[in-house]
Amino acid sequence: MRGFETRRGWLCIGGMELWRLAELAGNQPFFAYDRGMIAGRVNTLRRLLPPSIRLSYSVKANPMPALVQRLGNIVDGLDVSSVEELRQALSAVGDPSRVQFSGPGKSWEELRGAMAAGATISIESCSQLRRAAEIGRALRQKPQVVLRVNPDFSVGRSGMRMGGGAAQFGIDAEEVPGILAQVDPDRVDLRGFHVFWGSQNLDAELIVGAYRDCIRMILDLPARAAPSTIDVHIGSGLGIPYTDRQRELDIERVARGLMAILQDLLPGERSRLQITLESGRYLVGHAGIYVCRVLERKVSRGKTFLITDGGMHHHLAASGNFGRAQLGNYPIAIGNKIDDDEREEVAVVGRLCTPLDRFAERIALPRAEAGDFVVIFQSGAYARSASPAGFISHPQPRELLI
Ligand SMILES: Cc1ncc(COP(=O)(O)O)c(C=O)c1O
Repeated sequence: MRGFETRRGWLCIGGMELWRLAELAGNQPFFAYDRGMIAGRVNTLRRLLPPSIRLSYSVKANPMPALVQRLGNIVDGLDVSSVEELRQALSAVGDPSRVQFSGPGKSWEELRGAMAAGATISIESCSQLRRAAEIGRALRQKPQVVLRVNPDFSVGRSGMRMGGGAAQFGIDAEEVPGILAQVDPDRVDLRGFHVFWGSQNLDAELIVGAYRDCIRMILDLPARAAPSTIDVHIGSGLGIPYTDRQRELDIERVARGLMAILQDLLPGERSRLQITLESGRYLVGHAGIYVCRVLERKVSRGKTFLITDGGMHHHLAASGNFGRAQLGNYPIAIGNKIDDDEREEVAVVGRLCTPLDRFAERIALPRAEAGDFVVIFQSGAYARSASPAGFISHPQPRELLI
């Protein structure tokens, strides 16, 4: 059950059986996140990764305020992409120097708000850099920035690949030297660089190769304008398995590979770099479940459908409509029949009026009746906040951090 306890046939989270959580959630569909599992992930990374590596949490993965607060206490920084996320992050960590604001389109107001708050801005274009400098002049404050580089390499087998081509994200690697030459240190406080090469990768060797390429790319930039200590924010790319064909990432191998990269650097290079790995999904994805209930069993032309009171308006990604190549079903269980061995093949669907609203096809589950609990695992990241909640105007799901 993917790290969750079970008791007398019930799935538990944070020691509580599902029915108790359902009562807490007002017997509506809900997400529940296990704070112990989140802390466990952070602790594992701290134990395995080289001690100099910092960790930052990407709030976009799951912006639930209590969860951001929790992460804010145990990681080194928070990565935000909107003013609302910035507010969340600041109330979680207080110290604005721990917050980085990124995103391809930043309005004047957003840049101004982020700079006034004292966050570091990830600059994604020349015009963003010019605007940041202008706002800095008006605020009588030097903007703290990192330049986001659109890498000149791409990494295979990523759920989302970035780099190696034209992109709305970051400054093309080949243009960065020219921009560095124009950075006026009296107007802009350049702290370092930001590279996001991809997301949801489960191949340790490819991930390590990407880290090596990112670090080499940064070290090969002309040293003149770069700061003496270079902050390098690298998208971690660390993925989690969603389907039964995918295997858990070998995180020990990633950590060993990163250690070897640092050891291979010249001492002068090593001491200049302060590396932060940004992660959203890997820190919280495994720790969340989505729970809805069977409203009706229905047989159509020999095929059994479990029609639930949930749907893709709550959890778009589990329906396969969030851009991830759908390779199979998310892991699903009947949360009050965990010990039942007898299985039947069903389709699990939501209640929206579209055939896209489908959580699982041809999945073997214990026989479920109206009222039974459908649990979708691996639902802690890019789930509730990445779903079209307004579509068909059903109630929104509750969220519990247990
Ligand atoms: C700039 C940036 N950093 C970090 C992340 C988090 O990625 P993940 O949740 O896969 O770790 C994203 C996700 O899109 C991103 O755009």
